[in-house]
Amino acid sequence: MNVNFSKIAVVGAGAMGRGIAQMAAQAGSEVLLVDSMPGAAERGLAALAEQWDKLHAKGRLDAAERDGLVSRIRAVTTMQELAACDLVIEAIIEDLEVKRQLFRELETIVAPTAVLATNTSSLSVTAIARALQHPGRCAGFHFFNPVPLMKVVEVVAGFKTEPEVCTRLADYAGQMGHKAVQARDTPGFIVNHAGRGYGTEALRIVGEGVADFATVDRILKDQAGFRLGPFELLDLTGLDVSHPVMESIYHQYYEEPRFRPSVITAQRLAAGALGRKTGEGFYRYPDGAMQQAP
Ligand code: NAI
Repeated sequence: MNVNFSKIAVVGAGAMGRGIAQMAAQAGSEVLLVDSMPGAAERGLAALAEQWDKLHAKGRLDAAERDGLVSRIRAVTTMQELAACDLVIEAIIEDLEVKRQLFRELETIVAPTAVLATNTSSLSVTAIARALQHPGRCAGFHFFNPVPLMKVVEVVAGFKTEPEVCTRLADYAGQMGHKAVQARDTPGFIVNHAGRGYGTEALRIVGEGVADFATVDRILKDQAGFRLGPFELLDLTGLDVSHPVMESIYHQYYEEPRFRPSVITAQRLAAGALGRKTGEGFYRYPDGAMQQAP
C-alpha cells in the first residue's frame, strides 16, 4: 500500500494515542506505540486487538485484514526504537514543558527528514516547535475523541512549519479516512476555540441557576441538533484534559473574560470526578452505561 508515512510512532497510549494508532495501522502504516507509564502501550494494543476481533466477529473485517492490522502495530518501551520512523505523533499530557522535553529528545533520535506532530488541543504549536533545532518539521495534527468516529483532523501550521509538512499530514489524514482542515496556530485552533462557546457558556447557565446540566444537555441535543450535550462531552473527554484546556486558552488570550474557566469544573477536577474514566463525572457510569448522578 502506498501510504504517505510508512513507519510511524505514536507517543502516549491514552484515549487519543490509541485511536490515532488504530487509524494509522488501518491506513497501512507500520505503527509503534510508546508510553512512559509501564504497561500502558501494551494495554492500548490489547484494546485495539480486541476491537479488531469484534469487527471480525461481526463480519466487518476478514481474518487476513485483522491479522494484517495486528502485525502492523507494536508496543515499544524505549524512545530509541523510534529511530526509523518517518512520522512521530505525540499524544501525551497537555503540558507545554513536558511536550517540549519530548520533542527535544525525539529530534536526537529520528532522521532529520522525519515529521514531528503534536495532537495538542490548546497549546501553541509554535511554542512546542521552539524546542527543536529544525522547527519547520513540526506541526499540529489534532484529532478528536473518539478518533475512529470523529472524522475531522486540524492540521496546524506553527510560525516556522514548512508548508510541505502540512500538505503531507493532510494527505495522510485522507489515507486514514479523515478530513483535514488547515488551521492557523491560535489558542484552541478552530474547534476548541468555537467549543468555548459551547462548554463555557453551558457551565455559566448551570452556575447562574438557569437550568441543571441534564436539561442543558437535553435541550442542546433535541433543539440544536448536537450529538452530545456539553456535559456529556466534558464527561467523555475527562476534566483532567478539558479543564487545563479551558485554562490554557483563557491565559493565552490574556485573560479574555469570555474564555474564563468555571469553578464548577475546577471543583470536580479537584474531587477526582473526571468523567467516564473515573466512573463519575456529571453523570455516573457504573457499568459503562450513562446514568444521571444524584
Ligand atoms: P490520556 O491521559 O488518556 O493519555 C495520555 C498518555 O500519555 C498516558 O497514557 C500517559 O501515561 C502518557 N504520557 C504522559 N506523559 C508522557 C511522556 N512524557 N512520554 C510518554 N508518554 C507520556 O490523554 P488523552 O486524552 O489521550 O490526551 C492526550 C493529548 O491529546 C493531550 O495533549 C490532549 O490535550 C489531546 N487531546 C485530547 C482529546 C480528548 O478528548 N481526550 C481530544 C483532542 C486532543
